[in-house]
Amino acid sequence: MAQIGMAGLAVMGSNLARNIESKGYSVAVYDIDRAAGQRFMDAYGDGKFEAAWSPEEFAGKLERPRTIIMMIRAGGPVDSLIGALLPYLAEGDILIDGGNSDFHDTRRRLEMLAEKGIRYIGMGVSGGEQGALHGPSLMPGGDRAAWEHVKPVLTAIAAKAPDGTPCCAYLGPDGAGHLTKTVHNGIEYGEMQLICEAYHVMRDGIGLRQEEIAEAFGSWNTGMMNSYLMSATIDILNYRENGEYLLPRILDVAGQKGTGKWTVMEAAISGVPATVTAEALFARFLSGKKEERRQAGAVFSAPDLPGMDKGTVADIGAALLAARIVLYAQGCMTLQEAAGAYGWDFDIGTALRLWRGGCIIRSGLLGPMIEAFREQKPGNLMVAPEFAETLDKTIPSLRRIAAEGALHGIPLPAMSSALSFFDGYRCAKLPANLLQAQRDYFGAHGYVLEESSGTSRHTDWTGKGGKILSGAYNA
Ligand code: 6PG
Repeated sequence: MAQIGMAGLAVMGSNLARNIESKGYSVAVYDIDRAAGQRFMDAYGDGKFEAAWSPEEFAGKLERPRTIIMMIRAGGPVDSLIGALLPYLAEGDILIDGGNSDFHDTRRRLEMLAEKGIRYIGMGVSGGEQGALHGPSLMPGGDRAAWEHVKPVLTAIAAKAPDGTPCCAYLGPDGAGHLTKTVHNGIEYGEMQLICEAYHVMRDGIGLRQEEIAEAFGSWNTGMMNSYLMSATIDILNYRENGEYLLPRILDVAGQKGTGKWTVMEAAISGVPATVTAEALFARFLSGKKEERRQAGAVFSAPDLPGMDKGTVADIGAALLAARIVLYAQGCMTLQEAAGAYGWDFDIGTALRLWRGGCIIRSGLLGPMIEAFREQKPGNLMVAPEFAETLDKTIPSLRRIAAEGALHGIPLPAMSSALSFFDGYRCAKLPANLLQAQRDYFGAHGYVLEESSGTSRHTDWTGKGGKILSGAYNA
């Protein structure tokens, strides 16, 4: 009998199963595709693995209560697998979905399975194939008692943060785990786009050679600026095939699998201006319109300006840091607002601690962020003293880069939106007074005066004067 079941033996499932086995657990493995199961057993069958070839056999090979981790493609396949396993599960068994599932699906599945006495955990897993094998960041949420049961194995296989604590902790009930992974990915989108924009400025704005760009990123990759994604970028920039850099030959079209979109959708539902992730997502969509871009490029030319000054490089690192702080601040707002809307007991500090190791967004920013939330409990990360001070120093660089980009026709949607958000956030008087009036003009939505403590009024703006309404109708 095996202690843990792994369903899904593509690279993430295989590596996670191997990680679990390496910590001394026996693992039953199953894949709907027999060939995948066979390949796994051919490669690793000498370990403490038992193969199962049907859901029934799989369930039969597991100690009770059963613990099954599903590592399969999100969406329909998860429902199908649950449906296939269900007849062979018993009350108290634990199902863990480790895929990038939409947390709304997780909420639905949890409720459906709870009625049948099956305990469900939606768990974000980050770190790619190497992370799965050597230590991923694990973001579990859902049934609390089930979490207590699986805690030893999950904390054993998780990455360790720089202070040695496992990057795995219970995040909250319901879909809290998968929401946290979704927002993790939303931040991932923002981080990647910001780095891409820095690369674009250096490549096309200043005209640096690729080795110079790698060198610039290398010089910034320390302290708060250090990140896994920055290190990955440096490796990519330095990579050559037959002596030639590979990067310039790659098609400039980026896909996506949904998590960034869900972050933006959830932010919109919760009323959070997660502008940097939104722009990062839209930049991917725009990249997909390759043929249209090619045609438009023949219609419109770039501004006729000499290249940017080489001295601009010095500003790019600081601009990146400023924009990343805004990105993380928005990510934290999204998580907190969404978790609050669902009534979850959710601690942002716990989520940040899980991101210190193993995951794709691990970076030097997280330590100071955790301190900021622990000590000052700021309403917003940007106003915590250490971050306010850093922004004070770096925002002027972001202004210069955003302005230079605009003048030279280099699109910097994520950097520019980070700057606009920062300026909007620190602006005590936005032009929304005019917006209120416009809504009232055409829709009689009512407006509130600064001095009126919330009483709504409506005006006939073509000249007949205002009248006070008891509440804004059409609000
Ligand atoms: C991770 C990654 C991982 C995967 C993303 C990519 O945390 O390990 O986020 O989950 O690489 O799904 O997402 P896109 O295909 O949407 O870029």
